Amino acid sequence: MLLNYRDDRLYFGLEPQVCLADLVQSLEEPRYVYDLRHFARRYEQFQAAFADLPHMIHYAVKANAHPAFLRRVAALGGGADVVSGGELQRALDCGIPPERIIFSGVGKSQAELRLAIASGIKQINVESIGELRRIIAVAEALDKPARVAFRCNPAVDAETHPYIATGFRSHKFGIDAEAVMACVSLVLAAPRWASVVGVSLHIGSQILDVGNFAEALRNTRPLASALRERGFRLATFDVGGGFGIYYDTGDETREQDNFARYAEVIKQGAQGLADEILFEPGRFLVARCGILLGRVEYVKATPYKTFVIVNTGMHHLIRPALYQARHRILPVVRRAERTVTADVVGPLCESSDFLALGVELPEMREGDWLAIADAGAYARSMASEYNLRPFPEEQFIVE
Ligand SMILES: Cc1ncc(COP(=O)(O)O)c(C=O)c1O
Repeated sequence: MLLNYRDDRLYFGLEPQVCLADLVQSLEEPRYVYDLRHFARRYEQFQAAFADLPHMIHYAVKANAHPAFLRRVAALGGGADVVSGGELQRALDCGIPPERIIFSGVGKSQAELRLAIASGIKQINVESIGELRRIIAVAEALDKPARVAFRCNPAVDAETHPYIATGFRSHKFGIDAEAVMACVSLVLAAPRWASVVGVSLHIGSQILDVGNFAEALRNTRPLASALRERGFRLATFDVGGGFGIYYDTGDETREQDNFARYAEVIKQGAQGLADEILFEPGRFLVARCGILLGRVEYVKATPYKTFVIVNTGMHHLIRPALYQARHRILPVVRRAERTVTADVVGPLCESSDFLALGVELPEMREGDWLAIADAGAYARSMASEYNLRPFPEEQFIVE
């Protein structure tokens, strides 16, 4: 376990762990704390699980764009999946070579496409016919061809929060099979400026039912065959990211078992689809290796509820407010006293500013510290300075 108590003091990280009670001694403000070793371990596990499949891991930069993660990915020989010019530039600056970068997202601007094509990235995952037209125009203006993959919409209603499901017909993402064929005609009319290298998928995030991935692969196979019949050799088939973790229990053993099932499903379903299978994992690699530390400002007991008011909130971890996500919240020092049922809330002027509702906690006092677990992914990267509250610092316990 990454978080555990010894003598009622909370420790974090792989061995040797750090004592969070010691770490918070010098803190006033909230802070993200990461263990880069756990990130690297997850990356290597991922790599090993697919050792017998020609593949490449493209870390989804959106999950956590701290340069330390990107530099480690570069050192491990991995690539990046980016969704903006900012992420693309950050990946390049951190040493990830362009031939290991793929670019996803529905709203790529002219400037972003210019940067992508001028840098010579591995592939652009095209999400609409309008985008493909723009890619061809930018490529021609730069006199540099673009490599494109069609992000197809596999019509899978993934079992996850509706805001992070992305592979159903009614979602803004991807292109359906008919529109892909219209894209093919466009490419055939401009062979100097665009070449088709593959097909991509991404059905959503925080998906624990591996059957959803199997269905997506099954539904996409006919499109891959149709493209091959049109004479395209598929160099890549990108299965996207989206594999989830057990936030509620923190049970890494169960997670590893489910990951083994995921690997089997992908290996079976992706067989023969392309020369190389691409992955875009974010959360699975980085969620667990981070925590968010916050200090109790007040404990406010009302006739209706008890509020533990902390100096961090939805501006630093929006997942509970946005997706009703549940993160474990642990006192940095556990006192063997009474427990209370409380809402853990932040300081912002919004009722949605909470980290947990109705959770059982040991009785808290002003000045106590709490650790919010699994805040490595989609925490700092989705944070804001709302109410002009600054971003927390980020600290690595081991560099
Ligand atoms: C296109 C794309 N790829 C990869 C990811 C990473 O997903 P996850 O962090 O769930 O692995 C996302 C996130 O939603 C995405 O939109």
